[in-house]
Amino acid sequence: MNSAIVVTGTDTDAGKTVFAAALAGALGAAYWKPVQAGLDGGSDAERVAALAGLPPERILPEAYRLATPCSPHRAAEIDGIEIDPARLDPPGDRPLVIEGAGGVLVPVTRNLLYADLFARWALPTVLVARTALGTINHSLLSLEALQARRVPVLGIAFVGEANEDSEATIAAIGKIRRLGRLPILDPLDRASLASAFAANFDLADFTA
Ligand SMILES: Nc1ncnc2c1ncn2[C@@H]1O[C@H](COP(=O)(O)OP(=O)(O)OP(=O)(O)O)[C@@H](O)[C@H]1O
Ligand SMILES: [Mg+2]
Repeated sequence: MNSAIVVTGTDTDAGKTVFAAALAGALGAAYWKPVQAGLDGGSDAERVAALAGLPPERILPEAYRLATPCSPHRAAEIDGIEIDPARLDPPGDRPLVIEGAGGVLVPVTRNLLYADLFARWALPTVLVARTALGTINHSLLSLEALQARRVPVLGIAFVGEANEDSEATIAAIGKIRRLGRLPILDPLDRASLASAFAANFDLADFTA
C-alpha cells in the first residue's frame, strides 16, 4: 500500500480515531490529524499512538492544535488563529492514514468544509458510521455529500453491535462497499483492536 487513506465519519464520536488506529496499525502506516480541536483529555494522535502502538515518527504533527473542543472553524477563531488551507495538504509520508474532524460537512474555515478538502485531496476515503438507530439517514446523507463532490469513497466501516439490515441497506442504497464492522470492544486496547480489525476487515480492500 503506497497511498494515503482518509478516514471521515457520519458524526463526531462515530469511532474514526479507533478505526484509524486499527487501520494504521494493520497497514504499518503513519497517522495525521490535520486539525485537532480540543486538547484537554488528550489528542486523537496520542490515542492512535497508544491504540496502534505506533512509534513517534509515524505520528505526524498536526498542522493546527486548537484548545476548544468544537468545530475547527470556531475553535480557530476562539484561539485567534487563521487556518491556512494551504497548510492542510497531506504530508508525503506513505502509507498514511488521515483523520478528519466530526462529520463530512464540518467547516474547517468559514469558507471550506472537510468534504471540500477531501475533494481537493482526491484520496480514497472511508466513511465510519455507527450501527445504532439513525445510521441509515446519517450514512446516506454523508455519502451524498461526498459523492456530490466526487470524493473517491473507498467504502463504509461500521462501528457497534451488528445491525445486518441497516448495514446492508446503506450499502445497497448508497451504492457503497461495506468494508466491515468493528464491534464494541471491552477492553479496548492495542491487542483487542488489532485482532478485531483482522477478524472483521480484509486488508486487501485498503491496499488495492
Ligand atoms: N470499537 C469500539 N469499542 C469500544 N469503544 C469504542 C469503539 N470505537 C469507538 N469507541 C469509543 O467511542 C468514543 C468515540 O470514538 P472515537 O474517538 O474513535 O470517535 P471519533 O469519531 O474519532 O470522534 P472525533 O470526532 O472527536 O474525532 C471513544 O471514547 C472511543 O474509545
Ligand atoms: Mg477522532
